[in-house]
Amino acid sequence: MHLPRELQRRFHEAIRQHVDDPEQYSGMIRPTNDPKFGDYQCNAAMPLAKKIGGTNPRDLATQMVDALSVGDLCESPEVAGPGFINLKIRDSWILDRVAQMTQDDRCGVAAADQPRKVIIDFSSPNVAKPMHVGHIRSTVIGDALARVLNFLGHHTITDNHLGDWGTQFGIIIFGYKNFGDPDTVAKNPVPELAKLYRLVNQISEYQKACNQLPVAKQSVDDAQNLIDELTGKIEAAGDDAKAVKSLKKNLSAAKKRLQSARDSVAAMNAKMDAVQTNEDLLKISQQYPDIAQRCLSETAKLHEGDQENLDLWTKFLPYCRDEIDRIYDRLDVQFDHTLGESFYHDRLPGVVDQLSRDGIAAESEGAICVFLDQFDAPMIIRKKDGAFLYATTDLATLQYRREEFAPDEILYVVDTRQSEHFDKLFAVARRMGMEDVRLVHVNFGTVLGADGRPLKTRSGTLIGLESLLDDAVARAQAVVCDPERLQRMDPPMTADEQQSVAETVGIGAIKFADLSHHRTSDYQFNLDKMVALDGNTATYIQYSYARTQSILRRAEMDEEAVVALASKTELVFSQPQERALALRLLQFEEALVSVYDDYAPNQLTDYLFETARAYAVFNDTCPVLKAETDQMRATRLVLVVLCGRLLRKGLELLGIGVADRM
Ligand code: ARG
Repeated sequence: MHLPRELQRRFHEAIRQHVDDPEQYSGMIRPTNDPKFGDYQCNAAMPLAKKIGGTNPRDLATQMVDALSVGDLCESPEVAGPGFINLKIRDSWILDRVAQMTQDDRCGVAAADQPRKVIIDFSSPNVAKPMHVGHIRSTVIGDALARVLNFLGHHTITDNHLGDWGTQFGIIIFGYKNFGDPDTVAKNPVPELAKLYRLVNQISEYQKACNQLPVAKQSVDDAQNLIDELTGKIEAAGDDAKAVKSLKKNLSAAKKRLQSARDSVAAMNAKMDAVQTNEDLLKISQQYPDIAQRCLSETAKLHEGDQENLDLWTKFLPYCRDEIDRIYDRLDVQFDHTLGESFYHDRLPGVVDQLSRDGIAAESEGAICVFLDQFDAPMIIRKKDGAFLYATTDLATLQYRREEFAPDEILYVVDTRQSEHFDKLFAVARRMGMEDVRLVHVNFGTVLGADGRPLKTRSGTLIGLESLLDDAVARAQAVVCDPERLQRMDPPMTADEQQSVAETVGIGAIKFADLSHHRTSDYQFNLDKMVALDGNTATYIQYSYARTQSILRRAEMDEEAVVALASKTELVFSQPQERALALRLLQFEEALVSVYDDYAPNQLTDYLFETARAYAVFNDTCPVLKAETDQMRATRLVLVVLCGRLLRKGLELLGIGVADRM
């Protein structure tokens, strides 16, 4: 049950006598932060008093309380301050719900009465190159949203919109044709293709760096000159505070620019050094002076239907899929569909024709474009040379999804850096009359290293996802299999159990750390913090879960036995910590609904963390096995079981597993 919504409904009834549209004035019902104000607080009297006039909010609040029918749910509501209404949930009501929850495998969460059909486009890596840390966010956030929405009773359709038709394939096709050895590739396709990709990409990046270095150096000089100039002006401005302030602002922007220009120069130098100190690489570069162009023409040939390239693509794609599937297996992520970009290839000319026919797209300098008022640059859907673009494929995809699935909503879980692309895509969709589908760019920020810049390896490449997972598991192993902890385990943990716990904890740590930051913020990747046993981590919550199971083991009861006991016992609260934990457990649905409201899984991680904390407080103050009376013991056992179930379910909805012992 969603308590604030239920209370809200009761408030609507109470104010219907004052206004026709109570939904507009029922205000907000929020949990209070201080128990002395009760459990929830309603602030409706203020806006309502303004609307009807002639009465002060406090008096109105008193009238509302008189008209309010919540006796079954709350103690008598109290009016506080200028007109807040404080609500304290009845203990008897909480205990009833707790008893009901023992019989309910949905942890008290009702299914949506208006289920929506939601397509979730997530993960969507460009295959043919190894998955890197940048892919973790879309994969983990998208998967968590799908799990939560499903559990809430919505109909989700997950689709991995693979980049399986772009330049990366041109790169491996070119690499294979020129440097590949068919036998080695046949024997060991995945690493060999990755090697070819890296080789060609390295040369291409090298050549790009050579071309761009002078410009980058110029930017360093420009930024330095600007800094000198501003410093001079600041001195000259003397005590004109206003001028100094604005100059200093410019100065700090210029310093940032200088830093980033220096970074680019350093990155370019590193790329150049790596090739220039290696004779073989240098030779390749001399032999193919414009390697990027060569790769592009291999891609173009593929798109035009060149048989040789199509055959190579058909041969390589399954290898690339195997590679990413291994990672999805390990992350326990599944998709209903994997319709990559290649799937839409044949539809692209049709999309362009239709938009042109409908007068939405027009030719401009040989290209076909959609001009949009709100944007400086148009959306190009066909280049001058006839090539289609990322945007064209997205339009075709949108059309297909709408026809095939008739969704209410499509979520694109994609990096914030693609915001402009999606803004334009959605604008064009509206022009095409697709108002019936709600389109959302569920954008997210960047994973940063300890230096506050995007996480990279020392040589400047993005960190491979697989090695990151391995590191996390190793780190988790050190924490949970620390010899002192192991010693306390009875019976001892087998090596297999240790390995499996470390895997669950390590992968969980990475996912949770990602999900626990609001998706739009950048966050710093810090493995030690992620696997820590205390703090807002998966490890802490998994550990809390294991504690619930350990109590059951010591009580020599399983969940069923506790449920049976609950049905024969009248439950009681004897300590405020029991009530606090119980009330938290009843707020699961609120947390899940707010995940959907803002497409923000951190609402769930926060809730689980707070619940685990309430459980720790309960554990410290309320002995279970040594409870004074049978009734107290039964109530506490029930809370232990429900809390365990809820933490397990909550983590599962984030795609994170648990271990019964750790
Ligand atoms: N493959 C793209 C990339 O790696 C992401 C695709 C996101 N989905 C979409 N429908 N555009 O940048």
